[in-house]
Amino acid sequence: MSVPTEDGRILRMFTESTGAKHVVEIGTSIGYSGIWFCLALEKTGGRLTTFEIDEGRASKARENFKRAKVEKLVTMVMGDAHERVKELKEPIDILFLDADKEGYVDYLNTLLPLVRPGGLVIAHNMSASQADPRFVKAITTNPQLETLFLNVERSGIGVSMKKH
Ligand SMILES: C[S@@+](CC[C@H](N)C(=O)[O-])C[C@H]1O[C@@H](n2cnc3c(N)ncnc32)[C@H](O)[C@@H]1O
Repeated sequence: MSVPTEDGRILRMFTESTGAKHVVEIGTSIGYSGIWFCLALEKTGGRLTTFEIDEGRASKARENFKRAKVEKLVTMVMGDAHERVKELKEPIDILFLDADKEGYVDYLNTLLPLVRPGGLVIAHNMSASQADPRFVKAITTNPQLETLFLNVERSGIGVSMKKH
């Protein structure tokens, strides 16, 4: 379920090159993409808030964050992210969506106001066969967002910059 290595590198590069201080991830699983974010956040002095509903995967993620010695950079939030994200108040530099695909629109609606101007919304599994058309419409028609699609022949990644 984890992102492929190439996508992990993309996440690290966006995080490091934008100097992101706060990354929010929906869908921790066992922490693989989270560790890619942390490799960049070690350099930017930032931190990761990551949401997971499954206790078994979350406990493996905790172990993996410790093994990678990045646990101090990570806040894990358990439960249904659709509810738990409403508690977030701080600005977001990068929002990474990688949980329930049909929930992406809801996450976007709730969290876009917290994404800072110039910040990114990165969505995974955006190939033509996997993407939720409602989410594609949301990120390609919102005048606040400029969107491009990467790696469309494989997993598909949507990258949307919040322009203002
Ligand atoms: C594709 S995996 C995430 C992979 C991870 N980002 C990586 O690349 O290492 C999706 C995860 O989202 C979690 N998930 C699904 N629906 C969720 C929800 N409503 N709230 C929180 N987590 C959810 C699943 O339990 C699963 O672990």
